[in-house]
Order: sequence, then C-alpha cells, then structure tokens
Amino acid sequence: MLARAFLEQSAARAELALDAALPPATQLPDRLHQAMRYSVLGGGKRLRPTLVYATGHALGAGAEELDAPAAAVEIIHAYSLIHDDLPAMDDDELRRGKPTCHIAFGEAEAILAGDALQALAFEVLARESRWLPAAQLAMLRLLASACGSLGMAGGQAIDLAAVGKQLTLVELERMHRYKTGALIRASVLLGALAAGCAEGSEAYVALDCYGQEIGFAFQVQDDVLDVLGDTAVIGKPQGSDSARGKPTYPALVGIEESQRLARVHMQRAVDALSGFDARADVLRDLARYVVERES
Ligand code: IPE
Ligand code: IPE
Ligand code: MG
Ligand code: MG
Ligand code: MG
Repeated sequence: MLARAFLEQSAARAELALDAALPPATQLPDRLHQAMRYSVLGGGKRLRPTLVYATGHALGAGAEELDAPAAAVEIIHAYSLIHDDLPAMDDDELRRGKPTCHIAFGEAEAILAGDALQALAFEVLARESRWLPAAQLAMLRLLASACGSLGMAGGQAIDLAAVGKQLTLVELERMHRYKTGALIRASVLLGALAAGCAEGSEAYVALDCYGQEIGFAFQVQDDVLDVLGDTAVIGKPQGSDSARGKPTYPALVGIEESQRLARVHMQRAVDALSGFDARADVLRDLARYVVERES
C-alpha cells in the first residue's frame, strides 16, 4: 500500500532528523535531555512528518528541504502528548507502548521536557537558511498558531473543560479541529511552504482544505480506536476516554455515525486534491489511511 510504504520511509528519515535535532542524552541537564529523547525517539506513526514529506513530494520538493519542518511538527506533537498524558490532563500511564514520560521521569521533568521540546521545535525551524525569509517567517507563524490557544492548546482547554459534560456537535467539531486538526493542517502547509508554494495560491488553498479535512477525520478515528482498538496495537490504554468521561464522537453520535463522518471528511480531503497530478497520490492514500488505520 502506497501510504504505508511512504510512512515507513518517512518515519526512518524523520527519526534521523529528530535524533540530530535533540541534545545528546549525556549533555547536562542530562535527565531532561533523556526525558526529551525518550518521548520523541523510537515510536509513533510519524504521520505529521510523513505529511510534510508527502506534501513536498506532491509539489516536487526534495526530502532534504523538508527535514526541518518534518522534525519541528513531530517535536511539537511529542510535547503535546507528554502534557496530554499528565495527571492534570488525561492521567494516562501508557504511550507508544511504554510508560508515559511522567511515569518514567516524574511529573516535573515531564512538564519541563514538554516545555523544552516546544522551544526546540521553533529553534529547528528558525536555524535553517534554505528558504526565503518570508517563507520561513510564514512557517514559524503557522506552527505557532497551530499549537497556541486557537490551535492545540486551545483544543486541549476545551477538552478538559468538557469532561463529564455533553458538548453539542458543533462544539465537539471545533474541539477536534483545534486540538488535533490544527497541527495536522500545519504539517501539510509547512510542507507546502518549504516547497516554495505561495500562501494564498490555488495549490495552497487546496492543500489547506485537504489538511483540515484529514486533521478532523484523524481525531474522529482516534476516538473510534479508544472504543474499538486494542491496547497492544494502539500503544495507549484503550477505553481511557470513556473511563474519564471525555467528550468524543462515539460518546455523542455512536460508533457507526463516527466512522461514517470520518469517511465523509476523508472523501472531502481527496476531492480537494482534484487539481493535483499523480505525485499527490501519496496524499490521497494517506487520507484513506487516516480513517482505516488500526493504531
Ligand atoms: C495521538 O496522535 C494524539 C492525537 C492527536 C490524537 P497519534 O495517533 O499521531 O500518535 P503517535 O504519534 O502515532 O503516537
Ligand atoms: C490529544 O487527544 C490531542 C493532543 C493534542 C495531544 P487525545 O487525548 O485523544 O490523544 P490520545 O488518545 O491520548 O493519544
Ligand atoms: Mg487528551
Ligand atoms: Mg489523551
Ligand atoms: Mg484519544
């Protein structure tokens, strides 16, 4: 399958970029660096870096132009997972098949590892000199807004405030678009900007639509896997959402309707790419992967 082969190749490439971006485990403060490396390296599907590479590929960019944004989005993602698992948030003890960062390193170290990773992501993007300054600034702005109060952090705030309450469908959709959709959309658009695609161009707008649709579908499928998945396969505790009274699609509309919605948005994502040639087939296939995946 196209998407899976591309994911595998991108994951291997991203691993090298991530390893190079992270301070060595022996460098002081060594426990902090060990916690950062523990949470970033050697796990995860690497969907976000893969989207950077696949979007760049669709626009004809070489992989070396995409390594920094690929690493930066994954570093932000890893930070978001560390904080998401903290006792004050989802209070989960398993992530990517191993103990969560705060279980392995303690809560204070986990908070700091998240903080330091967030800063590192911007440093990784800012220290490159291969793009036009305007494109690089656009990339920094995009990543910042995707993880701020109108992106991931905002979505997490809505999520936590809604525990034990029933959100409307409109509120739940906004929460998913913020907490997960924003960073997935940013992954696609970072790939576009790194490939020289101008903000506001026809291709950029189409990719923006694609990114938003798969980002939303991705979180709906994440909710579905909390119900139907297997802890050993998803690498995190199955049933955690229902145990904690989390606002999810299955809780609000049921499993079948959640799966139907995910497919509707997957199709919208594929349709958004109608103006692209065969080089965008990986993106098309990744849209299917997002809703068909089992982990
Ligand atoms: C999990 O993301 C958290 C969400 C935003 C739903 P992923 O399912 O991409 O987690 P990894 O990176 O593969 O572990
Ligand atoms: C988390 O959503 C989204 C993030 C911003 C990390 P979830 O809480 O559903 O993610 P998992 O299921 O723990 O991976
Ligand atoms: Mg959460
Ligand atoms: Mg969680
Ligand atoms: Mg989840």
